[in-house]
Amino acid sequence: MLPDELKKLLSERIASAEDPREQAVDAMFELQSYYGYMSDEAMTEASGLLGMTPLELEELATFYDHIYREPVGRYVIHVCDSAICWMHDHLSVVDHIRSQLNVEVGGTTADGLFTLLPVCCIGYCDRAPAMTINRRVFGRLTPEKIDRILTRLKDQAQFAETE
Ligand code: FES
Repeated sequence: MLPDELKKLLSERIASAEDPREQAVDAMFELQSYYGYMSDEAMTEASGLLGMTPLELEELATFYDHIYREPVGRYVIHVCDSAICWMHDHLSVVDHIRSQLNVEVGGTTADGLFTLLPVCCIGYCDRAPAMTINRRVFGRLTPEKIDRILTRLKDQAQFAETE
């Protein structure tokens, strides 16, 4: 259940829009930040706030790569799966991450730290192959660079746990 404060904020934003649907994606991002992903409960709440049917909202949610209908890890890795990155061997990037994290595309590591997902072009074509992790962009990926990034994130997670 959403806290009253967040519900009020979203209601005000939605009321100020010419068409409540304009606020649908932003509202889902807010709800996702609160719940961690767009759970069925979050979808129902969004549907009520926006005055959209669950089906209309579902169509929108499944269109956007960064709206998650399933739980995701602390770090969501989106590897670019579009033409320029294909030409720069994006499959070796995917394979390297899969083997290093022991996770399949669409899955989350057993420790809940990483989710691996494909994404359409992220506008970093001049630095292909590319990926984002929690919206931060990384380009010119090599196995060594990927290892450095993953090690740093694992260290950060460990550090956060010991704080
Ligand atoms: S095709 Fe991969 S960043 Fe554009």
